[in-house]
Amino acid sequence: MSPIDIKTAEFYDQFWPKSVPILDKTREYIMETVSEAHVSRALDAGCGHGLCSVVLSERADEVVGVDVSSECVETARQQAVRFSRHNITFQREDLQNLSLPDASFDLVWCWGVAMMAPDPMKVMHNLMRVTKPGGTVYLGLYLKTWLSPIHELTRHFCRTFMNGPRRKKLVCDFFTALTNMHGKIVGSQTNLRADNISIQAQVEDWYYPPYKTFYSIEEIIELFRRNGFEAQCIQDRVGRIKSATIFVVRAVRNG
Ligand SMILES: C[S@@+](CC[C@H](N)C(=O)[O-])C[C@H]1O[C@@H](n2cnc3c(N)ncnc32)[C@H](O)[C@@H]1O
Repeated sequence: MSPIDIKTAEFYDQFWPKSVPILDKTREYIMETVSEAHVSRALDAGCGHGLCSVVLSERADEVVGVDVSSECVETARQQAVRFSRHNITFQREDLQNLSLPDASFDLVWCWGVAMMAPDPMKVMHNLMRVTKPGGTVYLGLYLKTWLSPIHELTRHFCRTFMNGPRRKKLVCDFFTALTNMHGKIVGSQTNLRADNISIQAQVEDWYYPPYKTFYSIEEIIELFRRNGFEAQCIQDRVGRIKSATIFVVRAVRNG
């Protein structure tokens, strides 16, 4: 097997198995985001818990789910069995060194993944490489804002000084309390995910992954354009988790 990013694998080995989201909300989101009614082959790149693969398998004849974490692959397999989806296969691979053949997918779904690799450009080039002419990539990335350096400083601090189980819990509880307080002040629960991921888990997923890169929408559209895709931003800071930090680009490979 090609080399893999062990640090990210270890982080997600312990993350998704204990935080599997609700399928219905994942389905709702993907169904309204993906405009293709039916495709032959779909790739769920960085499949995590596997629920996106389950949903994609309702629109595709065949789905391949790939993740760097072996525990995620196992969890994703269990979800496919749980929801009786028989047209999905899962494999453990690092998307930076993806072995799948060129131009082999009609639809590539990569949400909240590429920017977590040490070299996200390698991931993005592989996503483009495996897309068939006329095929579509849905790419969800972290948006670069004036807050990004502050988030990065906090993440480095948390990973360096607050990384034992008790300290990590302290950090997650602290940010959860802060979020709840903010919700009370503005009169709403601003940061709650409809798919049942707790705020503690969101904090862990935000401040503890080993690598993170933030992008502007323009640079990603330009990247696709240079590589023979027509791209547009279809969700800017909203969508699945109503997050101020994710944008989604839909890119179609020129025929
Ligand atoms: C934030 S989760 C997103 C999971 C899923 N795509 C979703 O939308 O809920 C990121 C996932 O990407 C996987 N991942 C991160 N870097 C990866 C890489 N280089 N190759 C394959 N998977 C990777 C992680 O193991 C994790 O399961």
